[in-house]
This record gives sequence, C-alpha cells and structure tokens, in this order.
Amino acid sequence: MKIQKVSADNLLRAAFPASDYEAMLVEKFHQNKRPIHEWLCIHRNKAIAYIAFSNAFHGNLLCGLHLAPMAVTPEFQKQGVGTELLNFALRQAEIKSQPLFVLGKPAFYKKFGFEPCQQPLCPFDKNKANFLSLRNPSNHSFTVGYEAEFTAASMVSSKPASAGKVKATNQGGCNQNRRRR
Ligand SMILES: CC(C)(COP(=O)(O)OP(=O)(O)OC[C@H]1O[C@@H](n2cnc3c(N)ncnc32)[C@H](O)[C@@H]1OP(=O)(O)O)[C@@H](O)C(=O)NCCC(=O)NCCS
Repeated sequence: MKIQKVSADNLLRAAFPASDYEAMLVEKFHQNKRPIHEWLCIHRNKAIAYIAFSNAFHGNLLCGLHLAPMAVTPEFQKQGVGTELLNFALRQAEIKSQPLFVLGKPAFYKKFGFEPCQQPLCPFDKNKANFLSLRNPSNHSFTVGYEAEFTAASMVSSKPASAGKVKATNQGGCNQNRRRR
C-alpha cells in the first residue's frame, strides 16, 4: 500500500517552466486557508492536471470567481485532459452558476463559452486582450479585485514575472450581496 500527500506543486512547475508564480500562488492559498475551489486530475497515481477558482471582488463584495491557475503537465497536454477537467469543473455546484473570469488564451477558453470581458477591467490585462468572462452580468466600469495571494506570490516568486504579477486592486462598490471575508 502506498499513501502519499497529493500536491499540484510539481505539475504547476512543469507546466509553467518559466515561472514559479503559479506554484507559489497555490501554496499561499493553502497557507492562508483561502476559500478556493480546486480539483486535481490523477492518472496512474500521478497528478497530471489542476484547476483552481478563487474569489473575484468588486470592492469588498464578491462578484464571481477567478479561474486560476489551470495547468496540464506537459506530457499530457493536447490530449483532451484540460478540456475534460474544465468541463468537469464547470458542472460542479460551486461553479456552475457563478460569474467566472479568466486571464488566458481566448482560443482555448472560448470553446467553453467564455467571451472577451469588457467590464470589469482586469488589473493584469490593460489592453483587454486575454481577459474573458462567463455568466458575467457587469455592465458598468470597475476593476475586478483578486485575493491578496495573487500579489503576495509575485513577491516571493524567484523567476520572471507572468501575467498575474501586477499588483491587484480591490476597489469600488458592488451590487452583489455577499461580503468579502
Ligand atoms: C492550456 C492547457 C491547460 C490546456 O490543457 P490541454 O490538456 O493541453 O488542453 P486540451 O488537450 O483539452 O486542448 C488543447 C488543444 O488540444 C486539442 N486536442 C484535444 N484532444 C486532442 C487529441 N486527442 N489529439 C490532438 N489534439 C487534441 C484541442 O482541440 C485543443 O486545441 P486548441 O489548441 O485549438 O485549443 C495546457 O496546455 C497547459 O497546462 N498549458 C501550460 C500552462 C498554461 O498555459 N495554463 C493555462 C493558462 S491560460
């Protein structure tokens, strides 16, 4: 019998070889016990794919979830694993009725119904090229906020910056009724 602690750390470092930002981000989510939704895909005792969702904010109020990070270990990419994991996540009760935001490749996420997001603005995507949303009711201008770990991870990451390394802002008000913890 083999008992092991399951972690996404190695697969995140393999999937993002130029940056340890994503691995640090997930480590910090766990250290700080953030209320995230996450799933690991295990194949033959090995973690091969990972997806996480964390709270998105309009000011101090929740306005949906950020999909980040998502990764498939290199040897399993382009075989449908990412598609299956994302489709699975989108069916889950915690996810399926929430507004979702993602900063990623439009060609991949559009297949799941994500569309270019005009509002809110993403603090990490000033030219609005890669910020997408799904079930997003927002029609007025604000900058979406991220959990503090998105900034904290960039401060301890030792490798070059990725898109998520700009300081996140949490500002403005929100017409949603759930408050930030
Ligand atoms: C982006 C990522 C999560 C996608 O996961 P994936 O498992 O490679 O995705 P899929 O295999 O489901 O789909 C990817 C492509 O492979 C194609 N594909 C799926 N199954 C296939 C198969 N059996 N044979 C050949 N191609 C296949 C899909 O049509 C898709 O085409 P596209 O490139 O036009 O979108 C993954 O490539 C990854 O981790 N990349 C590095 C980290 C990263 O960029 N993370 C996301 C940040 S936005």
